[in-house]
Amino acid sequence: MKQVFNFNAGPAALPKEVLQKAQVELLNYQESGLSVMELSHRSMLYENIQNHATERLRKLMNIPADYDILYMQGGASLQFSAVPMNFLTEGKTANYCLSGSWSEKALKEAKKIGRTHIASSSKEENYSHIPEHLELSENPAYLHITSNNTIFGTQWKTTPELDAEVPLIADMSSDILSRTIPVEKYSLIYAGAQKNLGPSGVTVVIVKKELLKRCPDHLPTMLNYQTFAKNGSLYNTPPTFSIYMLSLVLDWVADQGGVAQIEAMNAEKAELIYHVIDSSDSFYKGPAQPGSRSNMNVTFTLPTDELTKKFLYEASEHGFIGLSGHRMIGGCRASIYNAVPLAHCERLAQFMTDFRTNFM
Ligand SMILES: Cc1ncc(COP(=O)(O)O)c(C=O)c1O
Repeated sequence: MKQVFNFNAGPAALPKEVLQKAQVELLNYQESGLSVMELSHRSMLYENIQNHATERLRKLMNIPADYDILYMQGGASLQFSAVPMNFLTEGKTANYCLSGSWSEKALKEAKKIGRTHIASSSKEENYSHIPEHLELSENPAYLHITSNNTIFGTQWKTTPELDAEVPLIADMSSDILSRTIPVEKYSLIYAGAQKNLGPSGVTVVIVKKELLKRCPDHLPTMLNYQTFAKNGSLYNTPPTFSIYMLSLVLDWVADQGGVAQIEAMNAEKAELIYHVIDSSDSFYKGPAQPGSRSNMNVTFTLPTDELTKKFLYEASEHGFIGLSGHRMIGGCRASIYNAVPLAHCERLAQFMTDFRTNFM
């Protein structure tokens, strides 16, 4: 098989061991004679898979008992609507930190539901940093942040401190499970699975039970978080195979030693590439300000568009996949999620160094 180095932004690299396990089990899951894809979602075999995923995630992320873990569909994008529909109630204002295009999209959906307020923004500085300084509105329904900005390559390094009555809601699609976070400081966390958790198709929602009391009854059933909480995410057919893959990925994270070990490895991987950028005499430039740099998505530019094209072409000839920047901002981006091995980052760092040396 061709050796490639997958730096895709999402869907992204999955651990090889997980793919191998899924391959072995594909046709005959636990001697059932069936593939997981063919199991009834009401069967004991499937329920065990889902329960296992939930227990694993709870343990790995240290999720307190007063939080529910839900499996939804529609991606993180549907959460942009579900959050305000459930929690932006009459007389309240939804607060958003604008740190990139995904938070803009989240805000856009909230505006359709009710009153909104931009609590902080780095738009004027091209989203080159995390806008940490908050100015909340009166009567905030919640504060929404995007913990990692997949496109611009910035990441919150701290958790915003809010008054106890203001729920903190985070889109963690591109950095969930990549580092230790204090879950108890958040009221709701959501993440599309296709970066750090598994394949696309399932969206994980971690929500404080107390917050669920606010969900209005008049919402469409499938947009009401209560539906998922009350029915163990089995009100309708869940994305069973994606949840099975999620359970394998969570086992893999546990096998690596847990989130703290993964976090240390992620820091080492990111440092390798940022070091090449910083020591390149401005040949490579990182648009993200150093204090806001993401350990998941390393964005960088080269001196000219022509050189960028040449770099991307040569990179692909060497087996590097997914290094183009997002179509909105161009440049280059290496997405180095949990499953991207250190060795692949070393190869990329070496390639970047060699490319620059050959150019000089
Ligand atoms: C931070 C963030 N939020 C939301 C999304 C949208 O996710 P989905 O495609 O699952 O709707 C993405 C996708 O890349 C993302 O990176």
